[in-house]
Amino acid sequence: MESKFDVASIRKHFPILEQKAYGHPLVYLDNAATTQKPRSVVKKIEEAYFSHNANVHRAVHLLSQQATEAHEAARVVVQQFINAAEPDEIVFTRGTTESINLVAFSFGEAFCREGDEILISSMEHHSNIVPWQLLCERKKMTLKVIPIDDNGCLLVDEYEKLLGPKVKLLAITHVSNVLGIENPIKQIIEKAHKQGVPVLVDGAQAVAHMPVDVRALDADFYTFSSHKVFGPTGVGVLYAKRSFLEQMPPYQGGGEMIDQVHFEKTTYNRIPFKFEAGTPDFIGTAALAEALRFIQEIGLDKIADYEKQLVNYALQELSKVEGFQLLGNIPERHAIIPFQLKGIHAYDVGLLLDKLGIAVRTGHHCAQPLMERLAVDSCVRASFAFYNTSSEVDRLQAALKKIYKMFN
Ligand code: ALA
Repeated sequence: MESKFDVASIRKHFPILEQKAYGHPLVYLDNAATTQKPRSVVKKIEEAYFSHNANVHRAVHLLSQQATEAHEAARVVVQQFINAAEPDEIVFTRGTTESINLVAFSFGEAFCREGDEILISSMEHHSNIVPWQLLCERKKMTLKVIPIDDNGCLLVDEYEKLLGPKVKLLAITHVSNVLGIENPIKQIIEKAHKQGVPVLVDGAQAVAHMPVDVRALDADFYTFSSHKVFGPTGVGVLYAKRSFLEQMPPYQGGGEMIDQVHFEKTTYNRIPFKFEAGTPDFIGTAALAEALRFIQEIGLDKIADYEKQLVNYALQELSKVEGFQLLGNIPERHAIIPFQLKGIHAYDVGLLLDKLGIAVRTGHHCAQPLMERLAVDSCVRASFAFYNTSSEVDRLQAALKKIYKMFN
């Protein structure tokens, strides 16, 4: 595959990619589960611990001021990365899952009543299903699900029919973590807003692969995880429009989220701190900012173009493998290829690929309802990042041919 993208130089920033697995050069194709970290991100963590490790927003001493500055500067980096209107609309959490749970609880408390409905789609990750089920149980509400077709595409006509007056919020993924399909989020949000319904977008599988502009999308809430965008684990982002954050009650109580505490009554801090109880992962947020700087320097447009080329090459080469069965026939996929090898359990394929040095994920991918809808119990998922190469695709193709032959 010919490409102008200088993947060889980029790979030098990721020491883990030089490793061998069972004597084979590692091919890491589990990027939808977590991404690898460039040297600069890990260096940032070391630098923060060794030079300004002190708790943020709490002390007058120099180290605390430096840590606070780094943490708040990270908020601005995130704000600019997704083009939010102001840093106060960025809440740091532990990950996408916590971001969605926060909204399900706090939005639910502020805006939902018995008999109301929450709308999700059939292709959601469990993290964008279960928090809404918990809300519905708590408030005696109903969870409604937008159906998809046999290929995994959202049925937009059905969506419009479900957008009734009882719907209080739509929660939907930007890109499916199983299929790599991108939902037409902008149009989906437009339709929801026409009915006065706010929208939460799960961006966990989008932000590492395409430029995201929350204001252009007019998303009310947008969530993602640092570890899926080349940053450290344990940090997540919730973007929310100021008007919602101001009306929503706190999610957790503790230090930082308060204004005044008296046994008779406690008042709360301003946003976003009202939603950040306890010591935040301030080292992690600084490292996340470094990860975002790293990919912005490469350019998300360039990353998206290269990954598109790589995924198209992979689809072309893998379709030559006997027994290769792709899940869902969709026009474009973002960095994810889900498949089965005819007659061989996905788990066996994954184990054998591993022995050949190729890391993929197998199973239901935390999307059991989607798997049920597509009538499969599990599949293999090869998921890509901009540091993957066409020769790694060739390795995957050769390995799958070998595995198919072994079983037949
Ligand atoms: N949500 C991650 C995945 O899809 C873990 O693999």
